[in-house]
Amino acid sequence: MSKFRIARYQIQMSNGVGLQQPFSAVLLSDLHNASYGDGNRVLLQAIRDEAPELIFVTGDMLISTQEPQMDVALALMEELAAQYPVYYVEGNHECKVRRYAKTDGLRYFDTLQDAGVHLLKNSCVRTELRNMPVTIWGLELPWRCYERFQKQELTAAQVGELLGESDRDRCNILLAHNPIYFEAYAEWGADLTLAGHLHGGAVRLPFLGGVITPQFQLFPKYDRGVFRLQDRQMVVSAGLGSHSTLLRINNPTELVVLDLI
Ligand SMILES: [Fe+2]
Repeated sequence: MSKFRIARYQIQMSNGVGLQQPFSAVLLSDLHNASYGDGNRVLLQAIRDEAPELIFVTGDMLISTQEPQMDVALALMEELAAQYPVYYVEGNHECKVRRYAKTDGLRYFDTLQDAGVHLLKNSCVRTELRNMPVTIWGLELPWRCYERFQKQELTAAQVGELLGESDRDRCNILLAHNPIYFEAYAEWGADLTLAGHLHGGAVRLPFLGGVITPQFQLFPKYDRGVFRLQDRQMVVSAGLGSHSTLLRINNPTELVVLDLI
């Protein structure tokens, strides 16, 4: 892999307070073990150039074949975790590795934790961005949420069963691999959801956007970019790699940079 675009979004943090100074973060998603230059040096340099204060990862960084392809992703995560706080939620590929891979696949998760990555599995970390109390949540979606051809329901109540209640007096940032449940995330209490998974819809058409998802559903509503439901927001990455539908037309891979204000 040689090229990706930088997708830059300015996000007004909710509850009307805002941050005293802008806060920069990057969002990595769906790398699928790709490398931009040897040892991902091109990607690492692009991240350093943005001088982020933290890194969000929304899953599918590896490829879940029976012998998982993960060494490129692992090396990248170790390098990043040595320099930045990293908050990581698993995608369907990590989930599949846990379910089906031989034991060797599990070293992926041990290595992430040893490197200091905050691996959020239906859990949260409470912290502050500037003056703002923030809770960073990671939702591990049930496996049925990745079934092919049809959308399975997921309600706000079911999100609550997995995560517990959102924090009323804090800004809730939710990492959730699959964006198609934005309504449920928003109703549960996510002020800002970060997601990926849909690879921008593989092929992008003028006016219609992304065409197909990795689950072979057509014309996904939340394919890439920023979406809003009242005061709730979601940023969806088109991803840094490809898998399932390897096709990408009019749909470059991307590094997402978030300017939180
Ligand atoms: Fe995915």
